[in-house]
Amino acid sequence: MVKINVGGCSSFVKDADYKVYVEKALAAYDVLQGGQGAGNDFLGWKTLPVDVKEDIISSCEAVRDDWKSLGVNLVLVIGIGGSYLGARCAIEALSHQFVRPEGVPQVVFAGNNLSEEYLAELMDLAKVRNTACIVISKSGTTTEPAVAFRLFKEYIENTYGKAEASRRIVAITDAVKGALKTLSTQEGYRTFIVPDNVGGRFSVLTPVGLLPICVAGFDIRAMLKGAAAEREALLVRGEENAAVKYAAMRNLLHSEYGKAIEIMVTYNPKFTYLSEWWKQLYGESEGKDGKGIFPASVTNTAALHSMGQFIQEGTRVMFETVINIENSNRNVVIGSDEQNLDQLNYLAGKNVEHCNAMAQLGTKLAHIDGGVPQMEVSIERINEENLGAIFYFFEFACGVSAYTLGVNPFNQPGVEAYKKNMFALLRKPGFEAQTEEIMKRVDVKL
Ligand code: PA5
Repeated sequence: MVKINVGGCSSFVKDADYKVYVEKALAAYDVLQGGQGAGNDFLGWKTLPVDVKEDIISSCEAVRDDWKSLGVNLVLVIGIGGSYLGARCAIEALSHQFVRPEGVPQVVFAGNNLSEEYLAELMDLAKVRNTACIVISKSGTTTEPAVAFRLFKEYIENTYGKAEASRRIVAITDAVKGALKTLSTQEGYRTFIVPDNVGGRFSVLTPVGLLPICVAGFDIRAMLKGAAAEREALLVRGEENAAVKYAAMRNLLHSEYGKAIEIMVTYNPKFTYLSEWWKQLYGESEGKDGKGIFPASVTNTAALHSMGQFIQEGTRVMFETVINIENSNRNVVIGSDEQNLDQLNYLAGKNVEHCNAMAQLGTKLAHIDGGVPQMEVSIERINEENLGAIFYFFEFACGVSAYTLGVNPFNQPGVEAYKKNMFALLRKPGFEAQTEEIMKRVDVKL
């Protein structure tokens, strides 16, 4: 289960102010739980930990086992935003960082950028591997994954034949509409559904996250169990509710004390993508109507030698939320050296993680002294169960926090602006009028 400690903010905020924001967050909690707030047709994620049926889980496991029988050793997961960040976060957190276990495919991600070099180099890899593909798009029309899928669909069909391609391609999309749904029906792909009432960035506990995580060799039942336990904990209304505390403190720091940037801090590189997932969740959910806290992230201790200077002494506009992992899954002890030229013998006999924990604690004190409030969100260790819990915690807290701020957490109207211009510049049919208009503003030969 997730624990939260807001003690590192106490010297920055007045108790009375915190109490006011706890009340605001409790009111927002009631709106979320009552299903009365803006965007309330997108609340399906709230009950996913207990709603995901056995047949979805066993269908994910069936794909994993089928591809194993084909000898698949590379799985391309094609998707962008909420259609890939949760899976990437879980797979990076749970995987060995350097060694792939025997019999488990490597999972790589595509369709999250339009870089030609990225796609070409990924194709180089696909060509020397036994490749399968999961294509994920709720709308079924997003440009980045559509471009990547067109390339890899053709490659898979040419390499393995049309019939086997329909075994090597699995689609996750809307139940009835969209280009990907139409194509899947036509080609006979196995398909999984993104529920109508679950938005992309809240979809990690649907097949969008579960299938790639399962295919990568991880226990999705344990992940759902952890999420269900966290849901139970968050059902308890009150000022000790972890989501209420988080929502209250971050809104207070922002609205009353001018802290416009929240930095998610991890001391384990395996969690770098947890920050990426969290940045999308909070950035897309809260950054609208001229409001919101800018979500940023650092991975320490590396960043202490780069961004650390700014966080310690730069413009005082930020607070930190540190992901605290109580126990390491490995044990590496620092040895003693007769010559001690590196002068590290004072650490002999200590675990590396002890040094990491002392760096974390020392940084906390330094940053508080430097004017940076700090919260801690803790899990016991990195495993499937705790990842399920942390996913659910941040999703639920996001709903509470956005309603505290007074925005609809479940839409993202701003992402259309770049698309409109890009389509006009690419001369997409239907955008001709905008092309003329935009050509007056840019100096580019089309
Ligand atoms: O959170 C969201 O809704 C977005 O980030 C979407 O997930 C992203 O834009 C991809 O959309 P789609 O799954 O429709 O391709």
